[in-house]
Amino acid sequence: MGKFEGYRGTFRCVDNRWLGTDEAKELHEVEGVELHNVHEHDAVIVGAGLAGMYAALEIKKAGFDVAVLTKVFPTRSHSGAAQGGIAAALANLEEDHIEWHFYDTVKGSDFLGDQDAIELMVREAPLVIFEYEHMGVPFSRTPEGKIMQRYFGGHVKDFGRGKPVLRACMAADRTGHVLLHTLWEQCVKYGVRFYSEYFALSLIIEGDVCLGVVAWDLINGGIHVFHAKATCFATGGYGRAFKITTNSHANTADGVAMVLEAGLPLEDMEFVQFHPTGIAKQGILISEAARGEGGYLINDKGERFMEKYAPDKMELAPRDIISRSIWTEFVEGRGIGGERCVHLDLRHLGAEKIKERLPQIRELAMKFAGVDPIDEPIPIQPTGHYSMGGIPTDINCRVLADGKSKWLRGMWAAGECACVSVHGANRLGTNSLLDASVHGKRAGKDIVEYLSVVECFEPLPMDCAKRAVDKVNWVLNADGPERPSELREILQDNMYELCGVFRNEEDLTKMYDIIKDLQKRYQNIHIEDKSKVFNTHLMEALELGHLLEVAEVIVAGALNRTECRGAHWRTDCPGRDDENWLKHTLAWKTEEGIKFDYKPVVITRFVPEVRKY
Ligand code: FUM
Repeated sequence: MGKFEGYRGTFRCVDNRWLGTDEAKELHEVEGVELHNVHEHDAVIVGAGLAGMYAALEIKKAGFDVAVLTKVFPTRSHSGAAQGGIAAALANLEEDHIEWHFYDTVKGSDFLGDQDAIELMVREAPLVIFEYEHMGVPFSRTPEGKIMQRYFGGHVKDFGRGKPVLRACMAADRTGHVLLHTLWEQCVKYGVRFYSEYFALSLIIEGDVCLGVVAWDLINGGIHVFHAKATCFATGGYGRAFKITTNSHANTADGVAMVLEAGLPLEDMEFVQFHPTGIAKQGILISEAARGEGGYLINDKGERFMEKYAPDKMELAPRDIISRSIWTEFVEGRGIGGERCVHLDLRHLGAEKIKERLPQIRELAMKFAGVDPIDEPIPIQPTGHYSMGGIPTDINCRVLADGKSKWLRGMWAAGECACVSVHGANRLGTNSLLDASVHGKRAGKDIVEYLSVVECFEPLPMDCAKRAVDKVNWVLNADGPERPSELREILQDNMYELCGVFRNEEDLTKMYDIIKDLQKRYQNIHIEDKSKVFNTHLMEALELGHLLEVAEVIVAGALNRTECRGAHWRTDCPGRDDENWLKHTLAWKTEEGIKFDYKPVVITRFVPEVRKY
């Protein structure tokens, strides 16, 4: 017999009859995996970054029972890696307006962002910042004691006509870190329940209602069922599909893969942002704040090459443009020493400014590139950074079962895993911490309204744990010749080369074939560790399965979209094609491959125009 603890009577209802505990236990017996536990919470949040913890806090403060499941310990969530700032038009140091932030975000998105959602986000930005301030976030301060703000790419005065504007609210270059820790403290203070190191593996969907998730307890082993009236995904992005990336090892597309597996669509997955300044060969983020503070980009000839590509905004043009410019320097032979890297030069900023404003990137450069930026330039290259696409939601973060208008009742998504869409084809720096915070809060508020009217837990289906149990058993019992780590390396190396900063049909087709081959080889894997207690082989094999599913959607979407827009740059399809492609992609996984549909972009105020910086 498997081991059952904390069994809840609501778990099994057959033919309108609740089963007795023993009868139900028998039904739950699953060979090879012990079904440890069934947990009931009003709301279950998956992911403990800014979006997940902000949502949890709203729900808990309103008096509901909320649990947060997270694959890593909460303060190790990837939001903590964001460095430079969080955008809000506070105008603490100079003139700024919410409308300018609105325009910049729309233009930054290459006019693919939904303007109703963007307007809401930029309007709520100052409120979220003040709320953070009241929670005790240790922001850097102006001499008058106001929150300090710095320059960031694409944030500009006067509807794009002026110079860069001081808009990024900052805590030195550790902004994500301090926001994450402060939210964690608040969640602990209010008594949010955390299930740390639980790996969510499948959604529970019955008819058109979401009833929770099933997860694997990484520490002890064992399947756990989380039965909820409201489920919210805040599972982050999928930068680990790429070899060179700023993303933490945890960012393996788990949430979006679960949605795809449940037969739901994903939106705009072809749009993946490459941050211009990752440490060469490693990808570790060197914040855009370094350029916001005045850093230069220099090629092998000693030239500030951005003069050629964005003469007005220079190093503070948006990321897609700077990444392409750096790549062009490589291709045309002006990388440092002919290598794939250029220099980020901060020396002229002086030791004092670097130590005060950029202490973390100095430490990262010293540890990972072996250079002290006070004395030497940092070798950098574009690095996979952010997923603009994701799970389609409405402006209240409700997951859209058809990608357009039909809510999957009981389910929300917020932060990087979601596509509202506020970033369209390219996100502006510092709008991700903002998106995660604003939409985490919005999801939390909407869930509170829902919980206020929904009284009962709907019964779980008989086979609610089956998909997750099958996934785990399959990996534990697999005994083929292939090693997951080797397959992952092939995926990551090729995604960076063939589906990166520049794309074309030939490379993308090659990449698609590689993924199909890897998916086949994945069916023949084995893992060496067959135990259930903190089995990282099991975890990484499951993560690889998720990455392979989602990479297929990214590449299929990139092949399908025959234009250049934002971060999606097809060298074989020059120019933005508004006539055919001013629309969002929706993608489903079917037996016959990826199926596409489309929906219009919401345009309320700014008519698409040529995007120049
Ligand atoms: O460059 C950075 O500090 C990253 C910020 C962001 O992605 O928003």
